[in-house]
Amino acid sequence: MKESIDNLVIDKNGIYVDCTFGAGGHSAEILKKLTPNGRLFSFDLDEESKIISKKIKQQNFKFTLDNFKNISNYFCENQVSGVLLDCGVSSPQIDTSHRGFSFNKDAPLDMRFGKTIRNDAKKIVNNYSIDELTSIFKNFGQEEESRKIAKQIAIEREKNEIQTTLQLAGLIRKTKKKYTKNNPATKVFQAIRMEINDEVGNLRCCLQALEKILKKRGRALIITFHSIEDRIIKDYISTDIPLHERDLPLKDDSVAKSKFKLLATIFPSAQELQSNKRSRSAKLRVLEKYEN
Ligand SMILES: C[S@@+](CC[C@H](N)C(=O)[O-])C[C@H]1O[C@@H](n2cnc3c(N)ncnc32)[C@H](O)[C@@H]1O
Repeated sequence: MKESIDNLVIDKNGIYVDCTFGAGGHSAEILKKLTPNGRLFSFDLDEESKIISKKIKQQNFKFTLDNFKNISNYFCENQVSGVLLDCGVSSPQIDTSHRGFSFNKDAPLDMRFGKTIRNDAKKIVNNYSIDELTSIFKNFGQEEESRKIAKQIAIEREKNEIQTTLQLAGLIRKTKKKYTKNNPATKVFQAIRMEINDEVGNLRCCLQALEKILKKRGRALIITFHSIEDRIIKDYISTDIPLHERDLPLKDDSVAKSKFKLLATIFPSAQELQSNKRSRSAKLRVLEKYEN
């Protein structure tokens, strides 16, 4: 928390964006640093975040219920001083059992970040083919026993629809042979959540938008929790080709440079690890835009 705010707010009168308001912890700290001339625009897909945001009464704060992949619709080019992206799921989302994110609490299979998302965990588990399930578990969860779990899901759903988190978690526990330190359902649950909420696609779109809306020397702070997000960010800063031109043939004279450089990668301090166990897999990257 402290490191992200210290690295983000470099101009107290600037315009800032918190792409992932969640329970508003980061937004509240950003606002403490700003003068009344500085402004904070926060986004989240979650209707619960909208309710929490109403407690913030400051005039220089605005909450919008929208997907952060759309942020370029809200700002002009080179307008924003800093953007925070704290990827993934929030603690209140995991802890609220009816949201269906937790493999420890019984609830209908859901896992949507917000009600506008059309897909949900029940649809995926009961309708995706064995190949589709295998590929999601492998690509988004790096689950070693992907196909075996996918096949078992197909067998079970023939008998009865798979409806709840504990049904799914129990099925995975029975199917997996290999011992895991974490709950055996961890990787599959992560993979399903990423698929439903299109986390990879949204992150890529948002990175493209940042190239436009950030000012020169503006900062993007990105907190990631697993290697798939890490890979997207690393790819984004290490290549010479901007994201929107990837996979396209480039003209000889058009090899543009990435607009961002990495200023720092920060891991949680021992103190933070003690007070917030879930921070253990977090990585904070500080990027700076160096070109207009
Ligand atoms: C790790 S939490 C953020 C916690 C927040 N920094 C805080 O201090 O409470 C991630 C949040 O991002 C939201 N989120 C995930 N993907 C999103 C997207 N594409 N657009 C908008 N919000 C998103 C989730 O709903 C969740 O509330």
